[in-house]
Amino acid sequence: MSKSATNKIGVLVSGGGTNLQSVIDNIHLGEGNAEIKCVISNVADAYALTRADDANIPRYVILHKEFSNRASFELALIKTLDNSDVDMIVLAGFMRVLESTFISHYPGRILNIHPSLLPKYGGLSTHQKALENGDSSHGCSVHFATTELDGGPVILQASVPIFENDDAEILAKRVLEKEHIIYPKCVEWLCENRIYYKEGRAYFDNEPLKVPLQLEQIS
Ligand code: GRF
Repeated sequence: MSKSATNKIGVLVSGGGTNLQSVIDNIHLGEGNAEIKCVISNVADAYALTRADDANIPRYVILHKEFSNRASFELALIKTLDNSDVDMIVLAGFMRVLESTFISHYPGRILNIHPSLLPKYGGLSTHQKALENGDSSHGCSVHFATTELDGGPVILQASVPIFENDDAEILAKRVLEKEHIIYPKCVEWLCENRIYYKEGRAYFDNEPLKVPLQLEQIS
């Protein structure tokens, strides 16, 4: 049987890049038949860039501040991604809102990880919000990115307990450990066509997901 074509991934980052690292590590294990063609950061000193260098992945800095509006920034991202010949996008702690210029260029081919159990707590400060609301659990979600911020269909979630003396930092660490499990798994599934996006829904093994998958179901 002939080997299927390698999936070509572009990763957008803004920070430490631990999620990027988890995806790199999983690909190095041979999962998903994928290659990260480029990493782009909108923050010049993001540690994620060092991770890209260490993995010999071409990396670029595109500063949103140098563009007069979102659309021109997004066009610059697209130009670099298209020059790198990518066919799917992984948002890994990318802290800029992406609008239709970008999203419509890669229909159904953009994954995002968000540190909450969506639809709870879209946007920022999710750990603080969960603590302030007195929640007993929190977690993270991988979803297809759409033009609705943190609003695209969710594929896979993982939950963690919240303990009495938790602060936002401790909780963030607990959630991040789960992010590093569920994000590489979803990237792998996208590469294997086990998940796809169609008409506003996420599909898993050709079935529309009525509710997001949970980590306990798959491990
Ligand atoms: C993660 O919690 C991610 O979900 C959020 O920002 C954090 C980035 O972490 N969007 P890293 O840069 O992948 O280490």
